[in-house]
Amino acid sequence: MEFSTKYIAPGSSKSGCAVVGVFESRKLSAPAAALDRSAKGFLSKVVKSGDMEGRAGTSVMLHQVPGTACERVLLVGLGPEKSFNEKAYRNAVGAALRAINATGAADAELHLTAIAAGKSDIVWRVAQAAALAIESVYRFEQMKSKPEAPAPSLKRLLLAHGSTGERKAAERGLEQGLALGHGISLAKDLGNLPGNVCTPTYLAGQARDLAKRYRMKLTVLETADMKKLGMGSLLSVARGSAEAPKLIVLEYNGGPKGAKPVALVGKGVTFDTGGISLKPGGEMDEMKFDMSGAGSVLGTLKAVGEMRLPVNVVGIIPATENMPGSRATKPGDIVKSMSGQTVEILNTDAEGRLILCDALTYAERYQPSAVIDIATLTGACVIALGHVVCGLFSNDDDLAHEVLAAGETALDRAWHMPLHEEYQEQLKSNFADFANIGGRPAGAVTAACYLSRFTKNFKWVHLDVAGTAWKSGKEKGSTGRPVPLLTQFLIGRVKHK
Ligand code: BES
Ligand code: MN
Ligand code: ZN
Repeated sequence: MEFSTKYIAPGSSKSGCAVVGVFESRKLSAPAAALDRSAKGFLSKVVKSGDMEGRAGTSVMLHQVPGTACERVLLVGLGPEKSFNEKAYRNAVGAALRAINATGAADAELHLTAIAAGKSDIVWRVAQAAALAIESVYRFEQMKSKPEAPAPSLKRLLLAHGSTGERKAAERGLEQGLALGHGISLAKDLGNLPGNVCTPTYLAGQARDLAKRYRMKLTVLETADMKKLGMGSLLSVARGSAEAPKLIVLEYNGGPKGAKPVALVGKGVTFDTGGISLKPGGEMDEMKFDMSGAGSVLGTLKAVGEMRLPVNVVGIIPATENMPGSRATKPGDIVKSMSGQTVEILNTDAEGRLILCDALTYAERYQPSAVIDIATLTGACVIALGHVVCGLFSNDDDLAHEVLAAGETALDRAWHMPLHEEYQEQLKSNFADFANIGGRPAGAVTAACYLSRFTKNFKWVHLDVAGTAWKSGKEKGSTGRPVPLLTQFLIGRVKHK
C-alpha cells in the first residue's frame, strides 16, 4: 500500500473515498463540517435523517455527494466528543478501514487524523493510522497454494492533517507508523509460520536479512560456541531435537558511539512439545507460536532500523526446539548455567526460563542500560491476565514505569505483577542451587523469580506475553504484540538523552 500525508480540504481530491467523523449525537467533526459546507449541507441532511447518530463502531457510506470530487464519503461514528480519547480514535480508524476494505475503493483520504483525540498529537495519530492500515490489509497466505480471500481493495491512503503547520510532524508520524506496521507484520509472519519452516536456523536467516538491510551487526553462536561459554541450561533444552540451536545476536547502533544499548532478549522456542514432560495433544499446534518473543525482537529491530532511530539496541535470541528424544533432558537432571548456578530441571516443559537465563547472562557483556526480555513463558500468566495485557515483572521501579507508560501510549498494554522475595522459596531444590519450577501457585511469578536470579547486574523488565502474542480459535494467528510497546519504549529513549 502507498501512503502519503498532507493538508487538503475534505472531499476536494479525486479519491475513492473521503472519511470524516461524526460525534454522538449527530455532531459533525471539524473536517465533516468543512465537507458539509462544500456539499451545501448534504451531510447535515443525512445526519438529521437519523442515518448517522455518531455512535462508536457505526459507519455510513455515501455515494456521489454533491460539491465533492471524491467517489464516496464515509461517515464514521466517533461516540461522544467528551470521551473521544486515544482508544476511541483507534477504534474509529479501525472501523473506517474495515468499511473501506469492504468496498472496491482503491484509494482513500482519512480525515480522522485531523481530530483531537485525548492527549494525542498529530505524530501519534498519523503513526497509529498508518500502522492500523497496514494491519487491516495483512494476510498470511505464503503457505497456501493459491490465495484464498480476495485481495483487499485499498492501495493508496492519504492521512490528512488539519493545518499546513503540522506537515513536518505528520511526516514524522507517517515514517514511524509505516516502520511500526512493517515490524508488526514481520513478527506476525514469523509467528504464523509453522515449526517445520520457522526453525532456529530460519530465525538466524531472518536476522541476517535484517542485518544486511539495516546495517546491523549479526553474530550467531552455534552449539560449540555455547558449550565453550558454559551455556549448559540453554543446551539442555536443545538436546532432544535434531534441529541445531542458535544464539542470535543482532546489534543496531543508530545512537551515539559508546552509549550503552538497550538489550531485548526474546524467547525463541520454535516448537514446544514440552520435551519429556510432554504436553497434552489438544491445541499443541499453537506451540509454534512459542518463538513470539524472538519474533517481537526481530520485528522491533526492523521498525527501529527502518525509522533510523538514534538509539543503540542489541537483540539477543536463544532459539531452539523443545523435543522429547533419546538424548533429551529428563526430569531430575541437573545442569549448570552460564552464570555458574546449577538448576534441577523438575519439568522439561518449563524450558523458556532455561534458555532465557543463559541469554540474560550473555547480555551482561553489553553493559546494557536496560534489559527487556519477552517470552511466551507461562500458561499461568494467561490465567492471571487473559488476552488483554501482558504481565510485567521488574527489579527496577523506574524502568518498570517507563515500559508501562510506553505500553499505554502504544495501546499495547502491560500490567505490573509482583516479584516479592517470599515467592523465591517455591524454587527450593534439595539437590541443586534451585529448581526450574515452583509449583502451581503464582506460576507466572515464580517463573519471573527464576529469571531474576540471572539479572542482578542490570535493570531488567520481563514481559510474559503468553496471553497476548497470538489468538486462538477462528481468528488463530499471531498478533505482533508487543512490537508496538517495545518500539514506543525505544522512541521514548531517544527523547530521554
Ligand atoms: N510455552 C509455554 C507457556 C504457554 C503455555 C504459553 C500455554 C501459552 C499457552 C511454556 O514453555 C510452558 O510450557 N510453561 C509451563 C510451565 C510449567 C511447567 C511450570 C506452563 O505454563 O504450563
Ligand atoms: Mn514449555
Ligand atoms: Zn515454551
